[in-house]
Amino acid sequence: MSARHFLSFMDCTPDELLQLIRRGIELKELRSRGVSHEPLKNRVLGMIFEKASTRTRLSFEAGMIQLGGQAIFLSPRDTQLGRGEPVDDCARVMSRMLDGVMIRTYAHSTLTTFAANSNVPVINGLSDDLHPCQLLADMQTFFEHRGSIQGKVVAWIGDGNNMCNSYIEAAEQLDFTLRVACPEGFEPNARFVERAGARIQIVRDPTEAVEGAHLVSTDVWTSMGQEEESKIRLETFKAYQVSRELLDKASRDVVFMHCLPAHRGEEISHDLLEDPRSVVWDEAENRLHAQKALMEFLIPHTRNA
Ligand code: CP
Ligand code: NVA
Repeated sequence: MSARHFLSFMDCTPDELLQLIRRGIELKELRSRGVSHEPLKNRVLGMIFEKASTRTRLSFEAGMIQLGGQAIFLSPRDTQLGRGEPVDDCARVMSRMLDGVMIRTYAHSTLTTFAANSNVPVINGLSDDLHPCQLLADMQTFFEHRGSIQGKVVAWIGDGNNMCNSYIEAAEQLDFTLRVACPEGFEPNARFVERAGARIQIVRDPTEAVEGAHLVSTDVWTSMGQEEESKIRLETFKAYQVSRELLDKASRDVVFMHCLPAHRGEEISHDLLEDPRSVVWDEAENRLHAQKALMEFLIPHTRNA
């Protein structure tokens, strides 16, 4: 199986990631000038969604159309995947018909199993462990607003979840310091923390994490699949809300990001998305441009078979 996959930030070299970020900025500019760019004509992306999505679905589907190709939405509710057909069988079949597959799923092992049996690129559109496409967009957004992120300080406030794990990988690959402020018992996965070494610090106090930070980011307290825990999580994370006052304690040129959807009054204060330091709408838009760069990089422009 020779295809390149993007299941995690570690699937690319730091140089490749920087190239993707630059290319996302270029593709955004081309689109704003109305220039048509269709390197993926006749290419088809399959998109398997086992969880809900607005941004991921739209950005992959619109992105493929803009690149000259097409995307097919597949839900487990109406495919054989949902009726127990093994993931490796599905991968073998789908990769004979498609030019790439994007998967949003629960267990990360679904992605690795699929990729191991796929002849075409597999892209992680979010798993319980990681959300690398969101990180491409976040990094593009930081580059657009503030330039290189190397040597900067990023604060992650709240749950040590899939987004947090992807921030850890980004810190490793793009060489920035990440401070995670989370309650006890909600730390990011030790596997990611140990590998990142000194680049990541875990603290309990959000104020300590944001001190001097150039980027502050957070996410929902209850991720998809954790709905049964939401009551206890609401209680546990109360002290981890990001507000204007918390951002005042960061660097003067701090930017605020949130992958969205956001819950105002929970992980962010009601007014935060409207604060001039918030770049969340650019961040959401950049999913489109960053993933177009990714698909242009991964999906072969001509088919050999
Ligand atoms: N940020 C993000 O992945 O959004 P969706 O769940 O809407 O795709
Ligand atoms: N951590 C969230 C991200 C949603 C885009 C979740 O997994 O539900």
